Amino acid sequence: MSEIIVASPADFHVHLRQGNMAKLVTPHVRLGGFSLAYVMPNLKPPITTTSQALAYKAELESIDPTVEYLMTLYLSPDLTPDEIFKAKEAGIVGVKSYPRGVTTNSDGGIESYEMYYPVFEAMQRVDMVLNLHGEIPSDTKTNTHILNAEPKFLTHLHSLHKAFPTLRIVLEHATTRAAVEAVKACGSTVACTITAHHLELTVDDWAGQSFNFCKPVAKFPDDREALREVIREGHPRFFLGSDSAPHPVTSKSTSTPTQGCAAGIYTSPILLPLMAHLLESFGALDKLEGFVSNFGRRFYHQELSTENAENVILRPVGACNVEKEYHAEEQGVVPFWAGKELHWEIVR
Ligand code: NCD
Ligand code: DOR
Ligand code: ZN
Ligand code: ZN
Repeated sequence: MSEIIVASPADFHVHLRQGNMAKLVTPHVRLGGFSLAYVMPNLKPPITTTSQALAYKAELESIDPTVEYLMTLYLSPDLTPDEIFKAKEAGIVGVKSYPRGVTTNSDGGIESYEMYYPVFEAMQRVDMVLNLHGEIPSDTKTNTHILNAEPKFLTHLHSLHKAFPTLRIVLEHATTRAAVEAVKACGSTVACTITAHHLELTVDDWAGQSFNFCKPVAKFPDDREALREVIREGHPRFFLGSDSAPHPVTSKSTSTPTQGCAAGIYTSPILLPLMAHLLESFGALDKLEGFVSNFGRRFYHQELSTENAENVILRPVGACNVEKEYHAEEQGVVPFWAGKELHWEIVR
C-alpha cells in the first residue's frame, strides 16, 4: 500500500467552542489534516447575529490563522431577513437550525419551520445554506424517541425543499438508511453530511459507553451500511462533516441519577487518518478525496484551483495509537478511539 495525496481536506461541520476550550481544540483542525472548518454556532450564548459571528471568527483566527473558517448563524426568532442580507454581505455562509432541546445548547432551538419562511426566502434569494439538525424532539404521545427522531424529521426536509427548491439545504450528520434515501430523492440543492463516528458505531457501542454518545445517536447496523454504501458509490451530494464535538472529560464521564452525560464525540485531532482507516475498512479508500474534500467544496462553492490546493499526504503505518487525552490547563478532552490503533498517519 502506498501513500495517498488528498487536496485541502475540508470539514463541513465542526464545533470549535469558545474560550479555553477553543484554544485547545481549534489547532486540532489542522493537526487532523484539515484546512477548512465549517463552524457551528451553538455557543453559550448562541451566535445569532453577524457581528457575533465575525467576532467569533476573529477569535478562531487569532488561535490558528492557517485554517479557513466558514461561519454560521443559529436560527432563532431574533433572525430577520435583514440580518440575513447583512450576514451574506459579511461572508457568513449558512444558518443552522436546531429543534428545541434535542442536543447540546439547543434550548433556544426552533419549534416550527413555517414561522421562519421569510428568513428562508431571504436565504434562498442571496444563496445562503440552511443546515438542518434533522431530529424532532422526543414526545411520548407520538412515540418519538432518539431512535426514530431522524426518520420522523424527514417530512420537514421534503416540505422545506418543496417550498424552497433553490435554497441549498444540508441534512447534517445523517445516521439512517431513511435519511440517505430521502436526500438522494431530493434535487441537486440538497446535500448531506456524514460523520466519521457514524461510519463505525451502532447502538450497542454507545449504550453504556458515554464517550460514544452523541446526537443523533448511532443507529442499527443496516443504517450504518447505508452510510457506507453511499460513500462507496461516490455520491457527490454526500460528504464529510465530522460533528467533532469536544466536551470536558468531566462532562462526558460523570453521570448522576438525574443528569446524563454530554452528547458529542471528539474526532478533530485524528480526523484524516481516521477517515482513511474507516474508508479502507469498508472498501472505499478510492473515494477518500471526493468525500473529505471535493464533494463538499463543490456544494459550498469552495473549489480549489490547482495552485492553491494544499496537499496532505497520508502513509500507511503498522499502528499509530490515538492519544488517550488532550490537556490544556485544567481542561481534558478524550478523543474518539482513545488508545486504539490507526493504520494511517499524516506525513509531516
Ligand atoms: C464548552 C464550551 O466551551 O462552550 N465547554 C467548556 O469549554 N467547558 C461547552 C460544552 O461543551 O457544552
Ligand atoms: O453530539 C452532539 N454534540 N450533537 C450535536 O448536535 C451537538 C454537539 C455538541 O455541540 O456537543
Ligand atoms: Zn447537529
Ligand atoms: Zn454538530
